[in-house]
Amino acid sequence: MDTVIGIIGGSGVYEIDGLEEARWQDVSSPWGTPSDQVLTGRLGGVNMAFLPRHGRGHVHAPSDVPYRANIDALKRLGVTDVISVSACGSFREDMAPGDFVIVDQFIDRTFARAKSFFGSGCVAHVGFAHPTCPRLSAACTVSARAAGVTVHEGGTYLAMEGPQFSTLAESRMYRDQWGADVIGMTNMPEAKLAREAELCYASVAMVTDYDCWHPDHDEVDVAQVIATLTGNGDKARRMVAGLPALLGANRAPCPHGCDRALDMAIMTAPDK
Ligand code: ADE
Repeated sequence: MDTVIGIIGGSGVYEIDGLEEARWQDVSSPWGTPSDQVLTGRLGGVNMAFLPRHGRGHVHAPSDVPYRANIDALKRLGVTDVISVSACGSFREDMAPGDFVIVDQFIDRTFARAKSFFGSGCVAHVGFAHPTCPRLSAACTVSARAAGVTVHEGGTYLAMEGPQFSTLAESRMYRDQWGADVIGMTNMPEAKLAREAELCYASVAMVTDYDCWHPDHDEVDVAQVIATLTGNGDKARRMVAGLPALLGANRAPCPHGCDRALDMAIMTAPDK
C-alpha cells in the first residue's frame, strides 16, 4: 500500500515547500465543503496532500472549521497518515514559545461541533484511550529535532471552544487541577474523526504563548502569537520536508491498529 502523507496546516502554515507536480484540487464530500482545496503532489518520492485548516486567508474560525469534510476529503485522496500542525498556548514554563509539543493525550472541552461520522442509522464506538499514533508521532519528533526544533515528546492538549481565550480561573484550573500541558482550539474533533476514518494521526502543537496563568504574561498577546507563528511556520515546513524519508513510500499496516479502528467498533447489525 502507498503511503500518502496528509498535512492539516494551522495558523501560519499555509503551504509545503518543494512539492513536485503540485496542484490545488477540489475534493467534494457528502460531509460538506472542506476548508479549502487540497494541495497534492510528491515530496521525496512520497505522495502528499496538504489542507489549510482555516482556509487560505484564514477564513474559518475554530468552531466553524468543517472537520468532518476535511478528514473525509483526505481519506478520499488516499491519505494514510495525518499530521495535524497547530498553534497552542503552554501551561508549562519549560514548554516555551517556539517549542513543538508532540501531543499524546487530549481533554475535549469543545461543545459546538459535530464530532462523529456515526449516529442514528449506524452506531459505532471507536477506542480512543490512545488518541494519537505512536509511530507517526515518533517520526514527527525525529524530523522536527533534525530541523533544529526543541521538541517535547508527549503532552496533554486541552481543546477549548473559543474563539475568546481562557479566563485566568480557567487557565489555572486546566493547569493546576486538570494537568493539561498545552491549550488550543482545533485538535478536537479532528483527532476523533481521524480515528473513526481509520487514519494514523499525530498532533504537532507549536507553542506561541503562555496563555494567561503565567505571572509575567497576564494576557495572551496576539502580536507575540503572530511573531512566534512566523518562526514556527518555517520550522513546521522543515519538519514536513523530513517526513517522507522517515515514513517511506510503502506502508505496512499500522503496528498500533489505527488503520483497523472500526474492526470491533460498529454496534449496528449489518442488515439494518
Ligand atoms: N492558540 C494559541 N494560543 C492559544 C491559547 N493560549 N489558548 C487557546 N488557543 C491558542
